[in-house]
Amino acid sequence: MATLSFTWLLLLLGLQYSFAADHNIQNTESKILSILNASFPVQELLYHIDVWRNDAPLAGVEHTVSSNLESVIRSEVAGDWERGKLVLQFANQARTVQLKEAIYTALWKELQQTKQIYDPSKILDFYEQLSVHTDVPLELMDLVYTAFIHRSAQLLEAPFHTGSPDATFPLVNSLVQRLTFSTLDYLRDILEVLYDAVLALETPLSVVERLSYFTASLTQLALANLQLLDREELKSTNVTVQQALQANLRHLLEQPGFEQEVEATLRAEIYASLPKEEQLLYTARKVCIRNVTDPSAYIYECPQTYLICSNPADQKKAAYFIQRGHSNDSRPQFAFYSAFWRNRYILMEPASVGAYSANHSITKNVYSRVNINWWRVEYGIDGFSLIDAATEKSVLCGGDPSHWDGEEHHVYTRRATELAAHRGECTWSLEDCSDAA
Ligand SMILES: *[C@@H]1O[C@H](CO)[C@@H](O)[C@H](O)[C@H]1NC(C)=O
Ligand SMILES: *[C@@H]1O[C@H](CO)[C@@H](O)[C@H](O)[C@H]1NC(C)=O
Ligand SMILES: *[C@@H]1O[C@H](CO)[C@@H](O)[C@H](O)[C@H]1NC(C)=O
Ligand SMILES: *[C@@H]1O[C@H](CO)[C@@H](O)[C@H](O)[C@H]1NC(C)=O
Ligand SMILES: *[C@@H]1O[C@H](CO)[C@@H](O)[C@H](O)[C@H]1NC(C)=O
Repeated sequence: MATLSFTWLLLLLGLQYSFAADHNIQNTESKILSILNASFPVQELLYHIDVWRNDAPLAGVEHTVSSNLESVIRSEVAGDWERGKLVLQFANQARTVQLKEAIYTALWKELQQTKQIYDPSKILDFYEQLSVHTDVPLELMDLVYTAFIHRSAQLLEAPFHTGSPDATFPLVNSLVQRLTFSTLDYLRDILEVLYDAVLALETPLSVVERLSYFTASLTQLALANLQLLDREELKSTNVTVQQALQANLRHLLEQPGFEQEVEATLRAEIYASLPKEEQLLYTARKVCIRNVTDPSAYIYECPQTYLICSNPADQKKAAYFIQRGHSNDSRPQFAFYSAFWRNRYILMEPASVGAYSANHSITKNVYSRVNINWWRVEYGIDGFSLIDAATEKSVLCGGDPSHWDGEEHHVYTRRATELAAHRGECTWSLEDCSDAA
């Protein structure tokens, strides 16, 4: 019976005999096949089918024709979505626009009747299959797309209503994974609906924090964070929320593949969303490093020695090229070298054993040297600190006159653990000196 009915469907769609044969369908109805093969109008087609099925011929009212076609097709698919996909492929070979549209509409109705509709990936599959056909009515495409967006947003809501960072959401993960194969516009539309919903029910801080638990590609996370940052609901929030958002962005920058995986415009938007100084670290060619409160104290070579000093403002002398790198655990690190100072870097020599004693936590070991030297950046409220990347045990400080020597206002390092107690001494400000000669 099923085979007979399927044969009939093939006939209805006016398929080639060879196609039917390929699918191992016995062509027992060659007479009807040849009738169908003759491009009848749809009404006549149905009439012939009804006769063939021994049903009462249809009243020839126009609107019942397509609904009859739909019900015929739906009864054929009958919740078997694999079969639905096959029927959709046949739509190409359907002879009339009316027949094609009946197929598309019937399949969409049938999909909504099945549990498949709860899985947005299935709707997306259908949408993408429909997109291949040039003659699907636009209203239907819109309906399917909207259903896909809303179902996806609903699914992605779950993690935002969950307190635990450890909760896992396999369906969410598989949808997000599926979306990596599609245009980013889909995700953009989903996020818009998603944020409407979650920001109505949860605090901005909780939405920001829960976004940080999300498992997704770096590009998807970049987009999701930027889009959240753009929301009205986030604009009027306090510093805690802004910092949580920045922490999310910073975490992204620290991921190994960030620069390779995320395309340039999205990356530029991320940088632009960070505090000015952090942005400069990633975008400026040359920077000047100066005292936060004293605009006349820039660091570069001391007047008489190869040590580094806090010196008077002078763009030519203070401008350092920024070199960006990653440590072996892929965190960002930076090196500063100056063309003016004969391509020397700001370098910290390893403190000799016992250099720091209980009463003496300062070491003058920061030089202008030809060797590269990496620094890790730690961001504070009104500036940043430079920690030596090799050991992460020392922080660059300055400004205490008791460590100076006449004109030589030496900078020095302290134990990194002292940073909190000596913020003013160990926090710097950054200026864009890209244009310095
Ligand atoms: C369908 O029609 C074409 C030409 O109109 C003909 O060549 C072909 O043999 C017909 N197929 C069948 C199964 O009747
Ligand atoms: C900012 O708002 C959050 C809740 O949205 C609150 O928990 C936090 O204490 C606030 N922080 C400040 C500094 O006001
Ligand atoms: C990274 O480098 C540090 C010091 O250079 C070393 O102690 C650590 O074992 C390295 N880690 C890896 C994963 O290679
Ligand atoms: C270190 O400082 C403490 C108190 O500030 C003092 O008692 C001690 O003698 C000092 N030790 C040295 C070696 O100067
Ligand atoms: C900046 O200048 C102030 C005032 O002179 C000083 O107390 C502070 O230690 C300096 N900070 C740095 C990082 O040089």
